[in-house]
Amino acid sequence: PPQLTLAPACQPELTLVSACHPEMTLSSGSAQLTLDPARQPEETPVPKLVELTLEPVHCRPELLDACADLINEQWPRSRASRLHSLGQSSDAFPLCLMLLSPRPTPEAAPIVVGHARLSRVLDRPQSLLVETVVVARALRGRGFGRRLMEGLEAFARARGFRRLHLTTHDQLHFYAHLGYQLGEPVQGLVFTSRRLPATLLNAFPRAPFPRSPCKVTPSLTAQAAPRVPKGSSLLPPPPLPEPPTTLPPPPAGPPPQSLLETQYQDLRGRPIFWMEKDI
Ligand SMILES: CC(C)(COP(=O)(O)OP(=O)(O)OC[C@H]1O[C@@H](n2cnc3c(N)ncnc32)[C@H](O)[C@@H]1OP(=O)(O)O)[C@@H](O)C(=O)NCCC(=O)NCCS
Repeated sequence: PPQLTLAPACQPELTLVSACHPEMTLSSGSAQLTLDPARQPEETPVPKLVELTLEPVHCRPELLDACADLINEQWPRSRASRLHSLGQSSDAFPLCLMLLSPRPTPEAAPIVVGHARLSRVLDRPQSLLVETVVVARALRGRGFGRRLMEGLEAFARARGFRRLHLTTHDQLHFYAHLGYQLGEPVQGLVFTSRRLPATLLNAFPRAPFPRSPCKVTPSLTAQAAPRVPKGSSLLPPPPLPEPPTTLPPPPAGPPPQSLLETQYQDLRGRPIFWMEKDI
């Protein structure tokens, strides 16, 4: 059988040039093996934009681990805590969406390309708060972030929501590029319906989902869903339940905020920009 031996004298060198555009070079004397980023290895094909789908995490429990890994790659946290948070996803919000590429081979799992979490907003029944927006590190800069945002906008709009809010430390130009403007702080509702007593839940009307909410409109799988003209007869979102605990109201009167400067801070005291978009 053929044998590959690396003699110590060869002093092989393995260089990872860039995390985003990996280029591995194994060199020994004149012999050189190069993995060109343009020629992706078979097991990590770059997904095609047109093949991507957007699916709620709770509809694809078999992909929970992969989704947790994707988020932890950007914001490391314990796996248990991440899985717990993802496990709260439900049709009644918070709801976690995954941008998925179809399985590259029949045996392989679909690739989790991106993630975003949507929560209801206190006192704003037509708003959703968008959090934990992330695209797999190796797949950034290829239009997947735009697809994720446009997909979740169509997803929210199809469910009767009209405005999205978010915060960012350092991606405000990305969001501004996608039509988001500086906005006011809002309070996201972090509870899940599963924690509410059944008597309370029964007091609210059902969410307006005539079909299985796990089936995202086919238009999302091809390209950005066509915009429905404003004022069309889409059902309004379900009424907003009272939060079970008293949450602090958003600060009265927004302090000044510009694309260069913000006076808002997160819980750790880091400056954040509040942004919003009418959808
Ligand atoms: C932010 C993030 C989701 C963007 O995803 P992406 O796949 O790299 O973005 P895309 O390639 O889809 O870019 C979409 C458009 O935004 C533009 N864009 C991307 N990043 C930008 C930036 N920082 N500033 C300005 N424009 C930007 C692109 O040029 C592109 O423009 P086009 O569609 O007109 O050609 C991704 O970089 C990421 O996951 N970052 C780490 C996590 C993070 O910071 N999340 C945001 C938390 S608030």
